[in-house]
Amino acid sequence: MDISTVEDALVTDAKAHLIQPWPTSGQIGAEARSGLMDGDGIYVTDMEGRRLIDGPAGMWCTNVGHRCEPIARTLYDQAMALSYSSPWYTMSEPSVRLSKRLAGHAPGDLEHVFYTTGGSSAVETALRFMQFSNNVTGRAEKKLIIARQGAYHGSTYLSASLNGRPRDHDWMDSASDLVVKLTCPNPFRRPSDMTEPEFCDFLIGELRDVIETRGAENIGAFVAEPIMASGGVIVPPQAYLKRMRALCQENDILFIADEVVTAFGRLGHVFASKEVFDIEPDIITFAKGVTSGYFPLGGAMISSKLLERLRSSNHSDAMFAHGLTYSSHPIGCAVALTNLDLLEQGLLAHAQEIAPYFQSQLKTLEDLPLVGEVRGLGLMACVECVADRKSNNPLALDLEVGKRIDAHCQRLGLLVRPLIHMCVMSPPLTITRPQIDDLVSILRQGIKLTMDELVREGLWRG
Ligand SMILES: Cc1ncc(COP(=O)(O)O)c(C=O)c1O
Repeated sequence: MDISTVEDALVTDAKAHLIQPWPTSGQIGAEARSGLMDGDGIYVTDMEGRRLIDGPAGMWCTNVGHRCEPIARTLYDQAMALSYSSPWYTMSEPSVRLSKRLAGHAPGDLEHVFYTTGGSSAVETALRFMQFSNNVTGRAEKKLIIARQGAYHGSTYLSASLNGRPRDHDWMDSASDLVVKLTCPNPFRRPSDMTEPEFCDFLIGELRDVIETRGAENIGAFVAEPIMASGGVIVPPQAYLKRMRALCQENDILFIADEVVTAFGRLGHVFASKEVFDIEPDIITFAKGVTSGYFPLGGAMISSKLLERLRSSNHSDAMFAHGLTYSSHPIGCAVALTNLDLLEQGLLAHAQEIAPYFQSQLKTLEDLPLVGEVRGLGLMACVECVADRKSNNPLALDLEVGKRIDAHCQRLGLLVRPLIHMCVMSPPLTITRPQIDDLVSILRQGIKLTMDELVREGLWRG
């Protein structure tokens, strides 16, 4: 069969049988998305044989890049050694060894790991642990969860209830009575009459108000991505996280740092909480980069203090009735160990060294009139398009502008993660300077072509 026949067959079969994530009801189970056939380093090849830079590293996950031989070998070796072990009544060597290594990297007394199958289940685990813990310690009322507008924490019922991006809740049920949402800490969208420090004061004041009105005795946890990822790479104001953490500590509210994206090298460190933001959370959730996407694995790092509180409670027989068939999967844990080797043996240093170049080159795109802001940290960045720079208004724009840029870039050799009017860039950490130059040059061309198109269609005045 030639390539076009294979391609046609895949498209036909996808439309007939495959349900993709986040479909619209008009297309559910009847769409085919860009087909990728293989990958190598920072590149993937699509069904038409085009080589594309993997701009979003899959979904912020292929940190060591594609076709990484040591990881591929680990997958094979571990499957041949022990393919599975039940976490209910056994444990595997890789899961124990990984736990010790992760505890060595995690801040403070985050010395214990509960493994899951990905990020949603990691956040769900952290929240259910908070509920369980407060039940056991006689504080059954302390259950409210504080999250933020713009956040993304997952697709299970409770984790999804925390999500705060546009469209997340339009048609979906959620546990809204358990959640309070605070303002998104996005300096670019702060009220025009506030400086950034004033905006930060406002955000801290907002949490203080919620604690006062709802009562600390009713609030169990504050959950935050250190940098909001899918909300558009929102880097919060200076000291925001530290001040939020302090307020939580004063009020005995668990601070859960959702590091599903920011960990494992994306910001140059295994965990970013302490090294980048100088905070020691009570729980850190992780996934994605822990295996560089080669195996579904996630987890929650939990503090010794919290476990000690449970062990010394009056209910030592109370059961944390929570666990997954694939918790502590030996293959996932073995892959994570090899992934950690690669990070420690040079990739973290490379990510730290290359990040300023990545950010400064992307920043040059701000000279394009469609671009309102390019922001980011480490190897995560976002290009936000605006209708006009005076109002910075994203809403007046054709909402599919990110998709338009992505379509042009794909023809030119770059995969983009379109987010409504934004484009996210988070390439594999192995990216080099010349590859960054290529990425930025293609993105520039893609944005220029989109600008021409929008003007031609009368959607934008330029
Ligand atoms: C910060 C954050 N938390 C949780 C999740 C959910 O992870 P998963 O899709 O692996 O369930 C994501 C996914 O993008 C995420 O970005």
